[in-house]
Amino acid sequence: MSSLLFNGNCITCHKETQTISAPSVVKFKEVYKSAFPVKKEFVNYMSSWVLNPKEETSLMHHSIQKHGLMPNLSYDLDTLREISAYIYETDFTKRGGKH
Ligand code: HEC
Repeated sequence: MSSLLFNGNCITCHKETQTISAPSVVKFKEVYKSAFPVKKEFVNYMSSWVLNPKEETSLMHHSIQKHGLMPNLSYDLDTLREISAYIYETDFTKRGGKH
């Protein structure tokens, strides 16, 4: 369920390992995991950021300069929490650059 949500939506812009029109999943996960090693905090911060993307609360200012601020996707918080937990649990480096 959350993998479908992730693959159907986030992957449009975020490739697994390659930064093209947005930072790769591996990249933003690495930044978030070093800021929030504990799953609960990772999920809290990521889901509320994606719910309402803002430069002031970004952990990736350089990416905003490079790609522009991520648009608001109008998901509800529960869905985003599921997606964030899925990102935390999944090793995207093992899936190669495919997609
Ligand atoms: C329309 C393209 C697009 C889609 C769809 C998209 N993103 Fe993004 N996202 C971006 C861009 C561009 C950035 C880099 C600029 C920024 O950080 O705002 C970004 C940045 C991020 C960041 C880093 C935020 C920070 O601290 O700056 C996270 C986390 C993230 N996206 C998660 C997601 C998740 C989860 C989904 C799916 C629910 C998703 N994105 C869907 C374009 C997209």
